[in-house]
Amino acid sequence: MGILDKHKILETNATLLLICSFLVVTIGGIVQITPLFYLENTIEEVEGMRPYTPLELEGRQIYIREGCYVCHSQMIRPMRDEVERYGHYSLAAESMYDHPFQWGSKRTGPDLARVGGRYSDDWHVAHLIHPQSVVPESIMPRYAFLLDRLMDAEIAAERIATHATVGVPYTEEMLENAAADFRAQADPDSDFDGLLERYGENVNVRNFDGEPGVSEMDAMVAYLQMLGTLVDFETFTPDPDR
Ligand code: HEC
Repeated sequence: MGILDKHKILETNATLLLICSFLVVTIGGIVQITPLFYLENTIEEVEGMRPYTPLELEGRQIYIREGCYVCHSQMIRPMRDEVERYGHYSLAAESMYDHPFQWGSKRTGPDLARVGGRYSDDWHVAHLIHPQSVVPESIMPRYAFLLDRLMDAEIAAERIATHATVGVPYTEEMLENAAADFRAQADPDSDFDGLLERYGENVNVRNFDGEPGVSEMDAMVAYLQMLGTLVDFETFTPDPDR
């Protein structure tokens, strides 16, 4: 009896086919799921990842509030076309402090996972005020009102505390200084040494929108300019044991 004839027995006997399918799916399921019980952590630790600063976290909150994720994903898949266009594929660790994550499944606009540092602050501000002024064919809506809305440092501090509650490793010092760190990041004339000490030398300290006061525009641009810049891919090598 040839292999096709044997298979015919399976294909013409519904009960046998059901039982065999069930066995195959069970074995496949066990092979995939069991190892997860023996791993302490499914996210590979990657150097450079740090919790977001209070200003970046507020920018992220506005990003969620305004539904930017409806048109923009933040996950570069390991396919050649994506890697060539957007940069190194996204690592799980890069969204480990995201509550909720912003991977997204729809790209009306480009992926933003590595948009940080790609444009100047002025470009972002002009683009958010009036996207068509810098990209004439753009269908992105205008967000000029972000410039006029000044922000409350105390709310930023409370949000840091909330994220600490759900497991983001903010230290006592970060929690205590959250309001001050929030103001310092948008003011290059301030004393921002503490901010850099707590979050790292690569934190961008600038008056992002060029206007006095900390506006939602400052927070949004601070967030966008950080995206994808925390892990240094010149030195990153994937862990071969994983
Ligand atoms: C209706 C869909 C839509 C929404 C909502 C939207 N965008 Fe866009 N966005 C686009 C499109 C389309 C482009 C490409 C054209 C352009 O650059 O304007 C784009 C481009 C961008 C770029 C430039 C990316 C690059 O690599 O060139 C940034 C940054 C950006 N959007 C940020 C945002 C932010 C922040 C929000 C929320 C405040 C937002 N977008 C909301 C559609 C959208």
